[in-house]
Amino acid sequence: MRFLLAASLPVLLGPPISAAPFIVAHRGASHDAPENTLPAFELAWKQGADAIEADFHLTSDGKLVCIHDADIKRVTGVSKIVAKSTLDELRALDAGAWFKPEWKGTRLPTFAEVASTVPPAGKFYVEIKSGPETARVLVREMGRTKLKPTQVVIISFDKAAIAASKKLAPDIRAFWLSSFRDTGPLDPSADGVLATLREIKADGFSSKADKRIDAAFVARIRDGGFEYHCWTIDDPKVARKFLGLGAGSVTTNRPGVLRARLAD
Ligand code: G3P
Ligand code: CA
Repeated sequence: MRFLLAASLPVLLGPPISAAPFIVAHRGASHDAPENTLPAFELAWKQGADAIEADFHLTSDGKLVCIHDADIKRVTGVSKIVAKSTLDELRALDAGAWFKPEWKGTRLPTFAEVASTVPPAGKFYVEIKSGPETARVLVREMGRTKLKPTQVVIISFDKAAIAASKKLAPDIRAFWLSSFRDTGPLDPSADGVLATLREIKADGFSSKADKRIDAAFVARIRDGGFEYHCWTIDDPKVARKFLGLGAGSVTTNRPGVLRARLAD
């Protein structure tokens, strides 16, 4: 059915998707459970995600804690700077009740806890939110898990964090993240992205799903020998566009719904 429709309405449906889309659960199944918590990651696997994406900061005692913001106020109601607090201090607070009362009692997870949810065929996109010093801790922690290097992808907006990760663990894929200047032509441009990827020895680029991204942009990145990925897409039409352009994965808050809608 999709084939027939696609033949007659290519503009409405977007380019056909040649292979099963690779779906990454952004902060877990964060539309349905509190972001960056074990329930969100466990739900993501249940919803059929191929990978989970999780954000990590370094605590004052040098541990990794899974949280997006540098201050925990948004998800706990209590203002505390992660970099100035110990892991135990942070884990004493409730990080689930803000989302829905049923998640009351949920704690901020450690790296090991999040890693332990990853099934043998699953992948783990680990985002470094603190600086390049995080890479050493991350690589050490990874070595203590059952994960194979091929299951892990390190991602970061911080170029130095990606460069440090590739130096310490060249066999683990690492993607540089970037959004774009709001107006005008894409900035960074494809040439700018390529220069950065070469400089920091990244394996790929993962961008915000900006409307201005087109086939030529993605082709430039891929023809340069790098992977291209994108975030955060809940709309199947947008996901179709990016998969059609050659994105290797789509990161979404709704892995189950997006997969079902892409199969329609
Ligand atoms: O996968 C990349 C994406 O997670 C980056 O944005 O702010 O949600 O961490 P953010
Ligand atoms: Ca993230």
